Amino acid sequence: MSKILLVTGGAGFIGANFIHYWMKKYPNDRIIALDALTYAGNYANLEPVAKNDNFSFVHCNILEQEKVEQILREEKVDTLVHFAAESHVDRSILGPDAFLETNIMGTHSLLKAAKKVWLDEGLLPENHRFHHVSTDEVYGTLEPEDPPFREDTPYAPNSPYSASKAASDHLVRSYHHTYGLQVSTSNCSNNYGPYHFPEKLIPLVITNILFDKPLPIYGDGQQIRDWLYVEDHARGIDLVIHKGEVGDTYNIGGINEWANIDIVKLICALMDEQFKDNSELKDRFPEAKSAHAQASESLITYVKDRPGHDRRYAIDPNKANSVLNYQPQESFETGIRLTIEWYLANQQWWASVMDGSYKEWVDKQYN
Ligand code: NAD
Ligand code: DAU
Repeated sequence: MSKILLVTGGAGFIGANFIHYWMKKYPNDRIIALDALTYAGNYANLEPVAKNDNFSFVHCNILEQEKVEQILREEKVDTLVHFAAESHVDRSILGPDAFLETNIMGTHSLLKAAKKVWLDEGLLPENHRFHHVSTDEVYGTLEPEDPPFREDTPYAPNSPYSASKAASDHLVRSYHHTYGLQVSTSNCSNNYGPYHFPEKLIPLVITNILFDKPLPIYGDGQQIRDWLYVEDHARGIDLVIHKGEVGDTYNIGGINEWANIDIVKLICALMDEQFKDNSELKDRFPEAKSAHAQASESLITYVKDRPGHDRRYAIDPNKANSVLNYQPQESFETGIRLTIEWYLANQQWWASVMDGSYKEWVDKQYN
């Protein structure tokens, strides 16, 4: 049976990739993307699906409870997939308030709206789903020899971002246990791929290389993250929504741990390779070291560490693998190449989503 989805944060990195994935796989389902279009949300991310008759977009903050209720009611939504969040750890250290407002109060506002329309008004007491998209950061940090995070690993968030996500996970759980809202939660590791906002490590490194800017490595660069191609995250959420138990949580990851410094060195090498014998790229990015057969690696610059920096994240995906038959399809080797190729082919996208000062800087390079 076809579904009617409300996707919050649909104009962000993972939300948009999820919508592209879902509309291709389930063309008869209807999707309403809801997004406040903060600095991280861009309508351009939805261009590939914008003309689809089964797609629509609502400019709305998740804190606007009545507007969300109206959408759930009038559009007869049966599946709410909640991506909307403040997502960047560095920003949460500089200014935690927005994180608490959106990630905690915003999630609560959505839960209240869903409870009111689906349960209290009796519109869809049984066959609804509130799927909450969360992160592995709620489990805190691992020592080198620790086993990876499982669903029953105790929560120990360390940054204002992860603390706000942990709080939202608890609220979602409580709405199931207390009110019977049909929820599920997925906790995923670091994503990478197209439409990733260039403040995050991988797209930052790719775009900085192009303009001969330093590649900032926090601390000693030996922190470990477990990287997953964004479409494989979408595939995991798809399985949780279709096959996951109501009230349950699933960790999604691809067993792909990398130290930051190694990933940055790999990207440098792959970028140098892309420029080799490619006169179009050399003309387009004349400042790049790679355009002059020099090593991008020389741009690596060690900087002050992120306060409270978590040392290692790693997901144990056994539950999703065995219960949902989840398997990522992209290897890191193929995923990182696809990502670099996407950034090289979509300069207009990343130049336009960056902030004013960066845009001015880029303009100066070209005019
Ligand atoms: P993102 O920052 O790229 O996108 C967030 C989106 O939410 C943006 O489009 C933004 O405009 C929107 N938004 C923010 N505040 C809003 C509000 N108050 N009302 C409505 N919309 C609002 O983030 P992302 O990387 O795509 O992450 C999406 C979700 O996945 C988040 O919940 C994040 O915690 C989770 N997650 C991310 C990763 C990762 O590696 N990026 C990994 C695991 C989980
Ligand atoms: O683990 C999932 C999380 O992954 C998500 O919940 C977050 O929303 C997402 O932003 C991401 O958080 P990280 O802090 O791991 O991602 P980020 O890209 O900011 O940083 C990755 C690693 O690289 C981290 O150890 C910090 C380091 N880093 C980051 C930047 C931006 C640097 O060394 N230099 C940098 O300039």
